[in-house]
Amino acid sequence: MSIHPETSAITAGRPEAGPDAPLNPPIISSSTYHAGGPVGYGRYGNETWTALETAIGELEGGATLSFSSGMAAISAVFSILPIGAPIVASNQGYSGVMTLLNQFHASGRLEVRLVEITHTEEVIAAMKGAALVWLESPTNPCLDVADLPTIIAAAKKLGIGVGVDNTFATPLVQKPLSMGADIVMHSVTKFLAGHSDVVLGSLSTNDEALYKRLDESRRFNGSIPGSFEAWLGVRGIRTFPIRFRAAERNAQELVTRLSRHPKVTKVRYPGFGAIISFEVDGTAEDAQKVCESSKLITHATSLGGIESLWERRRRWALESPSVPEQLIRLSVGCEHVDDLWEDIHQALTGL
Ligand SMILES: Cc1ncc(COP(=O)(O)O)c(C=O)c1O
Repeated sequence: MSIHPETSAITAGRPEAGPDAPLNPPIISSSTYHAGGPVGYGRYGNETWTALETAIGELEGGATLSFSSGMAAISAVFSILPIGAPIVASNQGYSGVMTLLNQFHASGRLEVRLVEITHTEEVIAAMKGAALVWLESPTNPCLDVADLPTIIAAAKKLGIGVGVDNTFATPLVQKPLSMGADIVMHSVTKFLAGHSDVVLGSLSTNDEALYKRLDESRRFNGSIPGSFEAWLGVRGIRTFPIRFRAAERNAQELVTRLSRHPKVTKVRYPGFGAIISFEVDGTAEDAQKVCESSKLITHATSLGGIESLWERRRRWALESPSVPEQLIRLSVGCEHVDDLWEDIHQALTGL
């Protein structure tokens, strides 16, 4: 029976049922196991990770490996590519990933080809001879959306691997593996875990050989999650669909209200999800002041939690100069939309 994600988020990764069996997975705190089993050592496997991996795997439709962070998951993908391999990626996206790509390119470890992700023809033209196309869609923080079905189909025709960072859209909006992507990645830190209390990552794939190579990368780079963190991830996933939909409803209402506000010059929103990027009518200092004057929305980085957060992305030295100085990224949470609006309105009015 194929079940809906709202259901599998609640049911997947539970221990086997039986008299007095626990409903929730145990937190396995052990660096080693009695000899003779298939796991053997704490860096190779853990029952609590398995629960998290089963839950994400059912949502994305692929075998899943959990990692100590989203960056660790992405690093595992890049690390299995041959030295000097060409890789096509968006010219803007999460600053941590852009930094990693720049470092890999500068050292000659990879040949990184940066493209305008919304220009499908440009993306396809850059694929010639590439080993991998890495697609963050929507992008962080400009919320550009790639034409995933077309790009993935073109890459498949050429026999090129495709990885998708699905952190912003989540499997409730798009399931890249079902479109033919080889790998789907999450910063589980964000919507899946959803409580701003843990840093985690994941990779899912339907390719057995690829799974094995990524598993080996995790084993020998040691980029494993802690068992408590994995448990928090599972716990968060139980409410992920209802949190995501509630936050998305709030975001859609806020987009309407922000678009009409005289102190807002531009609102970016891909039409789904709970992240809004908007530009204030003023300077970087004005945008900074808006973020610092909120009373309900927390002035902090990160996103995807039950509580609303916002920040001016260019406050980070690593953020791309192509991101406007006065752009504020708002991660909408599940508070009452009128309370959020009152806070946004008072912060903007203070300008
Ligand atoms: C789109 C995207 N991918 C990857 C990452 C990295 O994830 P983590 O912070 O869990 O390492 C982030 C973090 O903000 C992100 O926004």
